[in-house]
Amino acid sequence: MRKLALTGWACAMTLFAAAPWQQGGGVSEPARWDKVFGASEARYRTEPNEFLQRCLQRLAEERWLAPGSAIDLAGGDGRNALWLAERGFATTLIDISKVGLDKARAAATARKLALDCREADLYAFDYGVGRWDLLSLIYFNPALSIVEKLKAAVKPGGVIVIEGQGSEHEGGGPPKSTLYKPGQLLQAFADWRVLHYEDGRFESDWNLGSRTHVVRLLARKPKP
Ligand SMILES: C[S@@+](CC[C@H](N)C(=O)[O-])C[C@H]1O[C@@H](n2cnc3c(N)ncnc32)[C@H](O)[C@@H]1O
Repeated sequence: MRKLALTGWACAMTLFAAAPWQQGGGVSEPARWDKVFGASEARYRTEPNEFLQRCLQRLAEERWLAPGSAIDLAGGDGRNALWLAERGFATTLIDISKVGLDKARAAATARKLALDCREADLYAFDYGVGRWDLLSLIYFNPALSIVEKLKAAVKPGGVIVIEGQGSEHEGGGPPKSTLYKPGQLLQAFADWRVLHYEDGRFESDWNLGSRTHVVRLLARKPKP
């Protein structure tokens, strides 16, 4: 059963503008993403996000974070959540696409991984406070609108990993108003320790084949 809060749902409906992977207008947001994840050929990177992998490697090398609890927001068909689970994180994946979540569940079963898949609207989800060691937000810029709630949900010493399109990105993807502006993520995490920040032209996982403006951030919540 779909459990989307009306406010979050109404919000989500306006949050993604027409994208190259959008197939036809007039469909609901979950249905639109169901089509993306149900397509016979994926038009996005199906391997785990490369920046997330780099972050985990660095966190391990520096002994900043041992595998603990992780949550992947708007995690789609689980390419990143599965990878986190494989690395020993007790991982929760939330998304509104039932098809995406079903794919993630099937992959978890095939790979003998425990993965907690929740069909949930990220604007309404109860993240708790000081609950997660790692929170990842990969290619869903609009969620920056709830960044303070997300920061509160992370344990002291825990981290947030973000990658998304920057303000010079053109073409399909999130609405222009949610493209990360210069310094916007740095400002949002000014009270955390920013361990890594990148702003440049790279191939985005959701706009394959050419370079675009991508912003990446790894930030660690200070311990009191
Ligand atoms: C561009 S995809 C990114 C998926 C995944 N993070 C990745 O990089 O593979 C955006 C995702 O946001 C999800 N989504 C859109 N609105 C949402 C909402 N309100 N709550 C939770 N997930 C949402 C879509 O279903 C889709 O999986």
